Amino acid sequence: LTLRITKNVTTEIPPTLYGYMWEDINHSGDGGLYAELLQNRAFQAVLPGTQNALAGWQPFQGARISVTSKTKGVSSSLPNSLEVQIPKVVQGPIGFENTGYWGIKVQQGWTYKGSFYAKSTSFTGSVTVSLKSASGTVFASKTVSGVSKNWKKFTFEFQPDSSSPNDNNVFSVTLDGKSAAGKTINFGMFSLFPPTFRGRENGMRIDLAEALAATQPSIWRFPGGNNLEGISFDTRWKWNETIGPLESRPGRVGDWGYSNTDGLGLMEYLNWAEDLGAEPILGVWDGISIANYSDLSTWPIVPEDDLQPYIDDVLNEIEFIVGDAKSTKWGKVRASLGREEPYALKFIEIGNEDQFQPASYATYRWKDFVTAISAKFPHMEFIATTLPSTALDPPYLKIDFHMYNSPSWFTTNAFMFDNYPRNGTQFFVGEYAVTSTNDANALGDLPSGRLAFPTLQGAAAEAAFMTGLERNSDVVFASAYAPSFQHIRNYQWTPDIITYDASRIVKSTSYYVQQMFSVNRGTHVLSTSPSSTADSAPLYWVASHHNETGIVFIKVRGRARNGKCPHANSAAAAMKVSNTGTTDLVANFFLDFATANFATAISISSPLLSPISGQFNVSNTLEEPEQIIPVSTSFSIPNAGRFNYTFPATSVTVLSLQSV
Ligand code: AHR
Repeated sequence: LTLRITKNVTTEIPPTLYGYMWEDINHSGDGGLYAELLQNRAFQAVLPGTQNALAGWQPFQGARISVTSKTKGVSSSLPNSLEVQIPKVVQGPIGFENTGYWGIKVQQGWTYKGSFYAKSTSFTGSVTVSLKSASGTVFASKTVSGVSKNWKKFTFEFQPDSSSPNDNNVFSVTLDGKSAAGKTINFGMFSLFPPTFRGRENGMRIDLAEALAATQPSIWRFPGGNNLEGISFDTRWKWNETIGPLESRPGRVGDWGYSNTDGLGLMEYLNWAEDLGAEPILGVWDGISIANYSDLSTWPIVPEDDLQPYIDDVLNEIEFIVGDAKSTKWGKVRASLGREEPYALKFIEIGNEDQFQPASYATYRWKDFVTAISAKFPHMEFIATTLPSTALDPPYLKIDFHMYNSPSWFTTNAFMFDNYPRNGTQFFVGEYAVTSTNDANALGDLPSGRLAFPTLQGAAAEAAFMTGLERNSDVVFASAYAPSFQHIRNYQWTPDIITYDASRIVKSTSYYVQQMFSVNRGTHVLSTSPSSTADSAPLYWVASHHNETGIVFIKVRGRARNGKCPHANSAAAAMKVSNTGTTDLVANFFLDFATANFATAISISSPLLSPISGQFNVSNTLEEPEQIIPVSTSFSIPNAGRFNYTFPATSVTVLSLQSV
C-alpha cells in the first residue's frame, strides 16, 4: 500500500470525541472506583431480617448479628442498623467483621480513616476496630469508648504496621466479652477509606482513578445506562438522594442486582468529571423503568398526565448543577454543600435506549422534557436515545447510538458514518464494545463466543471502528466505550475495560486502544490518498494534525482544559492505524509536509501472534496482566517525508509525525 498524507483538512475534530459511559455495574462504583472499603456499610436498600441484609458481614466468636429497623436508625434515610447480641457467657473479645468487597487491601504507610455509629441501653464499654487477616494477624487497630443509649458517631484513623501479602483481610469490630456479656448493642453507618485520588474526602480508589485519568477522556456519560432507570419508578436513580452527608443518602436497589450506596453521588460524579477534564453528559430519567429486562411489555411508563413531577425533578437537578448559588433554590443547596461555582453542563441525554419504548418517547416523553428544560435552560443541548431514528418533535440534533457486537461488525461498520447525510444532526456513540466473536448473538454466553475480557482481536476491531468515528467527527461528536469496570469477584457483564479485585487491577487491550486514540488527538482530520475504505481492509486508518499554534506540522501541545491537564503530545500529525488482518502489512508513506522528520510509533500487537497459534483472542487478565501492552519506538524520516512502516498482524498503531 502506498499512502499519501495530505495537508488537506477534511473536518475539525470535536474536543469531546473520546470518553466513557458510566454506571454502577459489576461493582464498578461500590467496590470499585468509589474507595469505600466496607461492603453494605449502612445496610441500605436491604430487607431487615434477611440473609442478604447481612451481605459483607459475619459474626466473630459467637455474637448474634442481624439487621433491624425496629429501633430508630442513625437517620431517617438510614433506618436499618446492625443488632449485635452478646451471649451471657463469653470469653475474650467478641463481635463481628466486614469482609470488604471480597477482601480488603492492607498497605503499610497508608492512613485509613473510618467511622461508625453505636448505641446501647446496657453496654457502656469500649469498642475496638481493627484491620486483620483471616488468620488473626492484626495490622492496625483503635479502641474507642463512650457508647450510650443514643446514637453517637465514632471516628478513628489507623496505619497498618505492615502490608498484608493478600486481600484475605477483614475489618473487625470487637467488644470486651466480660463487659458485653448478655448485652445488645446497635451499630450503624460504618465507613473505612484508604487514601483516595487527589486526597478527596469520600473519594476514588487511587489505582483505578489514575488508570482512567491516564486515558484523558473528554466526556463522561453518567449515571447510566440501565442503572439510571430503576426496576420501578421509585427505585430510579434519584439525584437528590445522592447528595449531601452520607447519612442522608438512603441508597437504592440498583438495576444490576446489588444495592447502591450512592456514596458516589451527583456531586462526586461532577467533581470527578472536572478532575478528568471531561465534559459531563447527564442522563436524566425520562419516565420509564425496567421491570423485567427481557420482557418489554412489563416496562412501566409514566403516562403524560403524570409526568410533570418528574419533569420538575429534572429541572431541579439541572438547577442544582448550574444554578446561581445566591439567587436559585437549588444553586443555594449546592453552595451549602461546599460548591459555590456552578458546574459546567451542556449536554442532557433524555433517558436511555428509548428505542425499546419509542411510541411514548415520540409522542410525549421527549417533547415534554426537552420543551420544559430548554425553556428554563436555553443553552442545553439534548441527546435523543431512540435509534433507529424515530421522528421527534422538536427534532433531535444529537442522537445516541449503542453497539455491542462482534469484531466483524465493527470492522464492516468502520465506514458506517462516511455516507451519513450532513444535515445538521450528530451522533453520540454512547456505548460500544466488541463483546463476542459470535456474529449472530453478540450478547450471549461465554460458550457461544462472549468475551470474558477484551481481546487483541476485539480491540483492533474497535480501533478500526474508531478510525471511522474520528474521520467522521463532523457527524460523530462523542463516543463512549462501555461498560467500564469489572470487579472480578462479582460482575454482571463482560467484557469490561478494566478488571480488578481488592488490590490488583488489569488494563485490557481495549483500554490501551482507548488510551492511544484519546491521548494522541489532533484538532483536524487530514485527508489521505487513498482514504481508508472497505477495499483497503484489513488496514484501517485516520490521519490528523493539531493546529493549536495555527501553524501546521510543527510541534504542538495537547488540550488544556479549564486551565488544567496540559497534555504535551508534541505531534505535528498523527496516523491511527488498525491492522485487523492475520498477516503483517507494509505501507509506503508519502507526507505532503516534508518538514516532518521524526516519528514515534506506539502500538499494541502480540509477540505470540501467529495465524497458526491463533493468538488473536489473547487478553490481559489479573493473572497475566501484561500479555499485551503498548510498545513505543521512534525513528527519523530522513527522506523528505517518505518512509515505510510495517503494521504487524492484528495490531493497533499510532504514528506521531513531527519536526524536531
Ligand atoms: O452497558 C450495559 C448496558 O447496556 C447499559 O446499562 C444499557 O444502556 C445497555 O443496554
